[in-house]
Amino acid sequence: MNFHLFNEDFLKGVDRLKENSIDLVIADPPYSLGKDYGNDSDKKSPKDFLNWTKEWITAVEPKIKETGSLYIFTTWRFAPEIFSFMKTKFLMINEIIWDRKVPSMGGSTRRFSSVHDTIGFFAKSKDYYFDIDSVRVPYDPDTKKARTRSIFVGKKWLEMGYNPKDVWSVSRLHKIHRERENHPTQKPLKIIERIVKASSPENGVVLDPFAGSGTSLVACLLNNRQCLAYEINPEYCSIIKKRLQRIKKQEKLNLEISFV
Ligand SMILES: C[S@@+](CC[C@H](N)C(=O)[O-])C[C@H]1O[C@@H](n2cnc3c(N)ncnc32)[C@H](O)[C@@H]1O
Repeated sequence: MNFHLFNEDFLKGVDRLKENSIDLVIADPPYSLGKDYGNDSDKKSPKDFLNWTKEWITAVEPKIKETGSLYIFTTWRFAPEIFSFMKTKFLMINEIIWDRKVPSMGGSTRRFSSVHDTIGFFAKSKDYYFDIDSVRVPYDPDTKKARTRSIFVGKKWLEMGYNPKDVWSVSRLHKIHRERENHPTQKPLKIIERIVKASSPENGVVLDPFAGSGTSLVACLLNNRQCLAYEINPEYCSIIKKRLQRIKKQEKLNLEISFV
């Protein structure tokens, strides 16, 4: 079982990855919003940002298996350019909207308030792995009862749950959330787990080039996937290390994790 975190610039480490070895890439890079990640990675000009994005996408593409997928998190500002580029190399399967459930409290007055992130789901080929049953959403007993008209009885979606749609309403993480770590753009585990379960097989290899607080490593640890992750900031690597050790202890897991 491969489980490695590299404190390294992904573009420097990517060449060591074997071709056709990755089942799933979960890429949550800086969005070019000027955030402080303890480095300048989110402070590139739009031109440099797009060139850098194309560079890492080009480098990672041959590492993905023919049945593999890549999910990329971005914003409406750069989704058009990034998705057009991705479509020259991959099949586009979905544009997923992450509705961050931002409370309505004023907001922008010269435009509509932006309350979502965009997630592009791309596959290497039409034979991509996808397990919808692992991410079905079960009905609560009342809703289920309300849908038991005879034509629905026995339907898989009614018994096992419906298949998630492409708008995911999950609150962004606040200090009160127990899973929250000291990272400015930590993604909710619920979102990353859904991606891991739907788009990688058990024991499959997941790659996270921009690990942040390590949410994808946690999702892999909890769901029996291998994981290779890169994070350039050593302080975030310490956060990830502590987070994984805590979860290993809670869940009584013996998995060997290497921190390089
Ligand atoms: C949007 S955050 C990822 C958040 C993560 N998904 C989570 O849930 O915590 C992007 C991360 O990429 C890191 N980063 C930026 N450039 C990098 C590079 N070239 N190689 C590796 N990590 C990088 C930043 O330090 C930052 O922590």
